Order: sequence, then C-alpha cells, then structure tokens
Amino acid sequence: MARELILITGVSGYIGFKTMRIALAQGYKVRAVVRKEAQVESLRSHSQIARHVDNVEFVVVPDMAKMGAFDGVMEGVSVVLHLASPLAIETDDYGRDILRPAMNIESSVLSSAIMTPSVRRVVITSSAVTLIPITWLGTTDTDTTFSSKDLNTDTAGPYPNSMAAYWASKALARAHVHEFLTERKPHFDIIQLLPSVVIGPDDLATDLATLQVGTRGMVLPIVKGVKMDMPLVGTPVLADDVAKAHVDAIKSSIPGNKDYILSSDAPEGIAWNAMNEIAKKYFPQEVESGLIPCGGSLPTRKWKLDTSDTEAAFGWECTSFEETVRRLLEQYIALSRKTTTAS
Ligand SMILES: NC(=O)c1ccc[n+]([C@@H]2O[C@H](COP(=O)([O-])OP(=O)(O)OC[C@H]3O[C@@H](n4cnc5c(N)ncnc54)[C@H](OP(=O)(O)O)[C@@H]3O)[C@@H](O)[C@H]2O)c1
Repeated sequence: MARELILITGVSGYIGFKTMRIALAQGYKVRAVVRKEAQVESLRSHSQIARHVDNVEFVVVPDMAKMGAFDGVMEGVSVVLHLASPLAIETDDYGRDILRPAMNIESSVLSSAIMTPSVRRVVITSSAVTLIPITWLGTTDTDTTFSSKDLNTDTAGPYPNSMAAYWASKALARAHVHEFLTERKPHFDIIQLLPSVVIGPDDLATDLATLQVGTRGMVLPIVKGVKMDMPLVGTPVLADDVAKAHVDAIKSSIPGNKDYILSSDAPEGIAWNAMNEIAKKYFPQEVESGLIPCGGSLPTRKWKLDTSDTEAAFGWECTSFEETVRRLLEQYIALSRKTTTAS
C-alpha cells in the first residue's frame, strides 16, 4: 500500500533524481515537479522509475521562481522535498542568474506550503558552503571545526564570479528559512540539509560527457593524470547518501526546524589525491592498461566539519570516501568502455 504523498522539485537533477528513485522504492507516492514537458517522458520511462509508474505523477511548473507557482500543486502533499536550484550561469549577470531565482524559488515553495494544510514538513537542500564566507578559503585556518550552527553572513555583492554568487545565494536562502520560521510560525516544520562536495555515480549519465560535469568533473581528472592548481575543500559526500537523507527526513522521528550537515570522513575530511591509490587498489588492470592512468593531482583545502548531530538524528554515517570513489570510478570505467565500443 502506498504511503504519504511527497512533492519533489529538482527531479531532473543529479541528487533530485536519486531522491525520487529512493522515495518510490520505499513506497511513497511522489508528485515530481519539472520545468519542461519534454522532461516528463524520459524521466517516467527511466528503468528505475517505470516500475513505480503507478505511484508517480509529474507536474510541469515552467517558472518556479514566480510567486504562486506552486499554488494548488501541493494539494494533499504531506512533505515537500525542495532540491531545485540554479547552479550555473547562463549569461554574464551573476546576480540575476543565480541569486534572485534561488531565493525566489524558495519563497514561492514556502508561500504555497503555508497555504496548504496537509503539508507537515518542508525539506530544503541547502549546502555546506553556507557555513563559511568564500573568503575563508583564502585564510590559513585549518583548525576550526564548523557545525550546523555556523552560518555565513558575509553575503553582500557584487560577486567576482558565479561560484561566489552561488555561495552567497545558498547562505541567503538558508538565513531566509530561519527568518521565515521565526516570523511566520508555519504549521509545518523545516529541515535544511547541508551537503558538502557531492560526488559518486550519476543515475542519469549515459556517456562520459554527462558524467563529467559539476563536482564529478572537478575530481575525475585526478585519475586521468591531470595536474590541477585550484584547491577543493576535502569534504566529499556520496550523492546516494544525500538522496537517502532527503527521504529519511520525511520521517517525523527526525527532529525538525534543524539544519544537518552531510559529509563523509568527518571531522578531518580527506585528501583528493588519495583517488590515485583508491583507483590502483580497486581497478589495477584499468590503471595498468592506461584507461585510468592516474598520477593527476588536485590540492585539498582542509575543512573540518562536525556531523555528529546528523549521525545522532539519522542513525547512520555517510559512506566512506574510499567507497564513494570506488563507485564513481566503476561508472566512469563502464562509460569509458561503452564509448570505446561505440567508436
Ligand atoms: N552537487 C553538489 O555538489 C551540491 C552540493 C551542495 C548542495 N547542492 C544542492 O543540491 C541541489 C541539487 O543539486 P544537483 O547537484 O542535483 O544539481 P543539478 O544536477 O544541476 O540539478 C539541479 C536541478 O534544479 C533544477 N533547476 C535549475 N535551475 C532552475 C531554475 N531556475 N528553476 C527551477 N529549477 C531549476 C534543474 O532542472 P532542469 O533540469 O530543468 O535544469 C535540476 O532539476 C541544489 O539545491 C544544490 O544547490 C549540490
């Protein structure tokens, strides 16, 4: 028997698709929100969704940032999992392309939820980037351990690049939720999930090009022998764990009106160059054959995160970096072989 009706935004994305897949596998009914009609059929017919077709319905909301966009869409929904968020810029106006839509989408979700009596919880995908100002990366601090109580308030523009704008947009959106809870006292509670650097297999990737985007595209060059200069914070998390946390957060037993950091190998974090050793351990033949030649490097910016309250609330720890990399490389190798066979 199907359980509660859950609304999920961002289902066409890396984490959102996995969240929809896990929610359906656990027996929830899902109302999945996309921006374009053309996305519906490919998602509905995906092998991992098609078997649950009776429990999933798709709704097209072309402009989620428009106030009232979700009015009526939440009818009968008990929990909203809100993952949709602009990550990249499409033009050169950083403020317009990232900041305002991210804030406006969140506002339109919350304003419709407050008018929908059936909603008992809203889960929002925030980010660990909300814990610190982007300028902290340039400091020498490697000792401080950041917790879910930390919040970057240094969010004023102008922003020198799209990453700085994204960083600010997530912090402003998280702070806005805290204000909303205090000022509006909604009938539902809110959980904000703060993933760190999300990596691991992508269920929607069909070739190497679609796998090597976003954060996967930043770390996979290490095993391809590329030497990079720009450091990346050493705080990974498996995408499947992030999705699982969203579905677990549906349960009333997870305390609401709280923010939870999602990151593996906490508090010390990892060194990205360990990907070379992990590749050699699990895929010695592929390293030997040159499919993943290894020898690349990516400097690690140490960042200590306290995930103890997440582990206490959810009752599990995030999958280790070693296993995360093993699963990512498994998909990379499979798609590499597919490319070779096809050409
Ligand atoms: N990936 C990470 O490392 C990471 C880390 C921390 C937090 N997060 C957060 O996790 C969430 C999901 O990220 P992801 O990695 O799954 O990203 P993704 O693969 O790029 O997916 C983004 C999703 O948001 C939708 N979207 C983008 N711009 C939108 C807009 N203007 N209006 C409505 N929907 C829009 C996309 O829909 P279309 O398919 O229609 O474009 C897609 O469904 C985001 O909130 C992100 O900030 C990600």
